[in-house]
Amino acid sequence: MIDTDSRDVPQMDVGTSGKVRVWDPLIRVFHWSLVVAFAVAYLSAEELSTVHEVAGYVVAGLVAFRMIWGLVGSRYARFAQFFKGPSATFSYLRDVAGHRDRRYLGHNPAGAAMTAALLITLSATAFTGWLLDDETRIAMLPDLPQIIAPAIADEDGQDREYRGRGQGGESAVEEVHEVLANLMLLLIAVHVGGVVLTSLRHRENLARAMVTGEKRAPEPGDIA
Ligand code: HEM
Ligand code: HEM
Repeated sequence: MIDTDSRDVPQMDVGTSGKVRVWDPLIRVFHWSLVVAFAVAYLSAEELSTVHEVAGYVVAGLVAFRMIWGLVGSRYARFAQFFKGPSATFSYLRDVAGHRDRRYLGHNPAGAAMTAALLITLSATAFTGWLLDDETRIAMLPDLPQIIAPAIADEDGQDREYRGRGQGGESAVEEVHEVLANLMLLLIAVHVGGVVLTSLRHRENLARAMVTGEKRAPEPGDIA
């Protein structure tokens, strides 16, 4: 990380428009594909359909790609560039409250924490969806707590009985899957709210930057 208080802007190709490339093409395609795949999975969820499953697996594939890209991708895609500990995140949030927050060229610490929350919740949603797709998968997880592993096979293993269905007709796993999907809605609302607030605060359209990949070149005081 470079603090531009103390150094010149390093190795950055500042174009004539005064912009620098921050988000590489794969991050941008990842982001907007994720938005579409999540929306399709959520909106097709009322009854199990191929559309729901395929969209859910696309989400899982995109998240898997992002995990790899976080290790080997371009500068601002790398987890090591933007993940900070909880204390840095809380201190950044205190700065936001006091209007002292500095501009980050990549993810700011709160955006980084949100990125982690979104990726983890999406993985858990897709994983519980995958479990639901075939009840024997739940039966294969006997060591998990009862709420996650409610299906118990018969002694001879022949006639598996799915005992996960609760009073309301929904299994515990279905319940967890649905809660996670709805938690995603909450996280997305906070995520988009954070994007809007930060855009206003630093007078820069961050959503457009996620389309073009470009942001205003770092100025003194910014963190690049
Ligand atoms: C239309 C609504 C949305 C807008 C305008 C938007 C915008 C953005 C922007 C500007 C960033 C970069 C934040 C930064 O500058 O630090 C970002 C990152 C991110 N957004 Fe969204 N977003 C939207 C919806 C979503 C949804 C629905 C999801 C999940 C399903 C999502 C998941 C993510 C993730 C995982 C990142 C981290 C990017 C990365 O480093 O890979 N976003 N979003
Ligand atoms: C990661 C993105 C996903 C999201 C946002 C999502 C969302 C949801 C939601 C909200 C429900 C509850 C529907 C309702 O009863 O109102 C649901 C149900 C379900 N989902 Fe997903 N899901 C995702 C991935 C998957 C995957 C990958 C699979 C399996 C291949 C899957 C399989 C199921 C099944 C079997 C149900 C129960 C359907 C029923 O009989 O009511 N989901 N999903």
